Amino acid sequence: MTAGICVVGAGFWATSMHLPAFAMIEDAEVRCVVAATEASARQAAERFGVPRWSTDLASSVAEADIDVVDVVAPPFLHAEAVELAAAAGKDAICIKPLGRTVAEARRMLDAVERAGTRLFYAENVPFIPAVREAKELVDDGRIGRVFRVKACEGIGEPHSDWFFDPARSGGGAVLDMAVHSIEFCRFFADSPVETVTAELGTFVWGDRTTAEDTAVLTLRFANGAIGQCEDSWSLTGAMDSRFEVVGTEGRIMIDNLHRQPLQVVSGAGDWTFPLPIPGLVADGHLDMLTHFLDARRTGTPSRSEGSLGLGVLRVVEAALTAAETGQRQTVAADQEGVPA
Ligand SMILES: NC(=O)c1ccc[n+]([C@@H]2O[C@H](COP(=O)([O-])OP(=O)(O)OC[C@H]3O[C@@H](n4cnc5c(N)ncnc54)[C@H](O)[C@@H]3O)[C@@H](O)[C@H]2O)c1
Repeated sequence: MTAGICVVGAGFWATSMHLPAFAMIEDAEVRCVVAATEASARQAAERFGVPRWSTDLASSVAEADIDVVDVVAPPFLHAEAVELAAAAGKDAICIKPLGRTVAEARRMLDAVERAGTRLFYAENVPFIPAVREAKELVDDGRIGRVFRVKACEGIGEPHSDWFFDPARSGGGAVLDMAVHSIEFCRFFADSPVETVTAELGTFVWGDRTTAEDTAVLTLRFANGAIGQCEDSWSLTGAMDSRFEVVGTEGRIMIDNLHRQPLQVVSGAGDWTFPLPIPGLVADGHLDMLTHFLDARRTGTPSRSEGSLGLGVLRVVEAALTAAETGQRQTVAADQEGVPA
């Protein structure tokens, strides 16, 4: 049966990834696009052949032909949109970060539980084809026991003003970028994060934000494995999406952007990266959204339930406290969505 979808957000990520991915999924039909302005909602709707557009979130998600609300808007809207979806009896997909805080994410999960609806956490990293292939190799025992994992996610400049405003974004490079790295590390360490340390700084965007643009976190997992996360908005002119898994019998490295060993960056904007296949495939969004709709249709658990997004936020909040206090922090033991 076709799922009727309302996409909330018509910006960079909705138009680059989610709307094109839904257009390729046979049993998905986007029926409405919601954005902050009518012009941007309409432009995205027309571009992707969507029949309705709106600036009215509450009435749009409640329309009878909507089954799933896909939230691809800034973090300040995530909780509101998911709560409205749940109140209207609709399932939701929410882009990373799940919320601005653990408390907000908790509210979202509670709303979904009360309504008996579902919430999927749209974190694409575990769905990246190269990452999935690496996970299969690890699960097959090809590199022995994993004891060290590392992820680097960086960009040069957030593209919209709201990123720089912690009230709207919820924070800086930790919340925006390290959520990917933390999830990568958890996925491969296959264990909950026990403690975290963090060094944060604002080196490039201090004139635009009070939030950190650079973050280096270390994680210690319950099974003893060590994780490193290097995440930033401070790679002038460049971008980074590299992952590493080290085991007792081998090592796997993924460079998701380049697949070429030598990279030279010189000055802002003077840089391009060749993506061998379209981003929505290379970055796992098509697989991820297809998987969510399959899980929903078959009533089976997905690989990325909302609770996983809450677990990542627990690590984020512990990392922020670690940076503030200069002390290693213990992460709440009741992390959800990760193996005990
Ligand atoms: N790899 C990834 O998973 C990835 C990558 C980039 C962005 N994101 C996430 O996607 C989300 C959106 O980011 P983006 O880059 O598309 O931002 P953007 O600034 O390009 O677009 C934001 C969109 O939200 C809409 N919006 C703002 N206020 C609204 C309101 N009150 N009601 C309805 N719509 C409203 C705007 O009209 C706009 O269409 C963020 O949570 C971001 O972290 C995820």
